[in-house]
Amino acid sequence: MKYLSIKQAMKQEQGEIKIRGWIHRERGSNKLKFLVLRDSTDIIQCVIEKESIGEQKFEEAKKLQVEASMQITGTIKKDERAPTGYEISVSDFEVVGTSDMFPITKDQSKEFLADNRHLWLRSRKMTAILKIRSTIFGAIHEYFREQSFYEYQSPTFQSVQCEGGSSLFHVDYFGKKGVFLAQTWQLYAEPAIFSLEKIYTLAPSFRAENSKTSRHLTEYWHAEMEMAWASFKDIQDHGEGLIKKVMTRVLEKHEEELKILGRDIKKLEPTIKKEFPRMTYDEALKILREKFDMKIEWGKDLRTIEEDKLSSLYDTPILVTHYPKKVKAFYMKEAPENPDVVHGVDFIGPEGYGELIGGSERESSLEQIEQRLKEEGEDISQYTFYLDTRKYGSVPHGGFGLGVERLISWICGLDTIKDAIPFPRTALRWTP
Ligand code: 4AD
Repeated sequence: MKYLSIKQAMKQEQGEIKIRGWIHRERGSNKLKFLVLRDSTDIIQCVIEKESIGEQKFEEAKKLQVEASMQITGTIKKDERAPTGYEISVSDFEVVGTSDMFPITKDQSKEFLADNRHLWLRSRKMTAILKIRSTIFGAIHEYFREQSFYEYQSPTFQSVQCEGGSSLFHVDYFGKKGVFLAQTWQLYAEPAIFSLEKIYTLAPSFRAENSKTSRHLTEYWHAEMEMAWASFKDIQDHGEGLIKKVMTRVLEKHEEELKILGRDIKKLEPTIKKEFPRMTYDEALKILREKFDMKIEWGKDLRTIEEDKLSSLYDTPILVTHYPKKVKAFYMKEAPENPDVVHGVDFIGPEGYGELIGGSERESSLEQIEQRLKEEGEDISQYTFYLDTRKYGSVPHGGFGLGVERLISWICGLDTIKDAIPFPRTALRWTP
């Protein structure tokens, strides 16, 4: 007989089955042992009866501890009292790996769970999140490939900054200075649009953020795209299309996992059904003033609190465009109609999940870029390779970056971004 997954066994509904997995919970008396067995697909209650299995085997069963791995042969039947509606009456079992006393029990502190992250990954919560994460990664590839983007890889060791020097991780590169971990693929992606035109990646980015917030990791996964001949609107449309694709796939596949996480699906459905509101920075300031009596001086970046207030008015992500030039990165295109603002866009997630996507049309003027880099105190000789993109057949282009863990946090309704990644890295946590 072939091993079935727990889900397959439940689908079979009755009769003889063989399954394998880990003990999720156990309790027992002198005559009966109840196990809840877990595999990647589900959990199921199993009963071992002394009378039917024999004294010697029952003694063995009595010693079983949580997280021991085992193979079970038995008969499955419906049982409404069991946690997932089925019960297996065990006719034989084999212990594959015994387990020491599992350190994770109920009501443990966040720190304890973080120290034991390698074991906490087995929890139902983490299993549900990791399944949704896997679907999200798949949907990102699917979206870009469907839209005829090539997958392209940029280096992780880089010699330039793109998103500000303060969040760079400096690397000891054989004692040489000026080597950093990638904050973004962008400056190494723009040269490649002259070859492939439409490209994307899904790769880790690194930010030396000392902020202890629920939204920041020092290592996060970044879905980025760059596109030749793109208008500012194209960039915004692809961002919206990507989020809609991801949400569609998650809702198709993960009703059960979202239920385990206590996530209300009604809060996610509008993202598929509705167009995302798009507003300029000026319009955003007006809304904040009129609806929340928040007066923001023109030229200041929107802070978290302001983004949260703004997004609280909507049930889908919103796009804010045309930010003041001075608060945005050097590569964003100055708006032709107003030199004080740029063709940059932030996608702000609902329910206080913050910025999901940052993107822009790219500045085409070599002089502008050089001047803005100098204003940031950069040595432009380091940027020669990048500046060449504006010298040899430059075309209108643009792109964006989506913070994958921010998206996962929102979709799963997580309290912290740390649960959106298997082994979170933050200013305070780099182990295990
Ligand atoms: O807005 P950012 O800094 O934009 C860029 O890096 C551009 N070069 C992208 C591009 O145009 N190719 O970062 C993009 C997104 C943010 O919107 C946010 O979702 C996420 O990356 N992000 C973080 N996620 C987790 N932890 C952090 N410390 C993050 N910093 C940015």
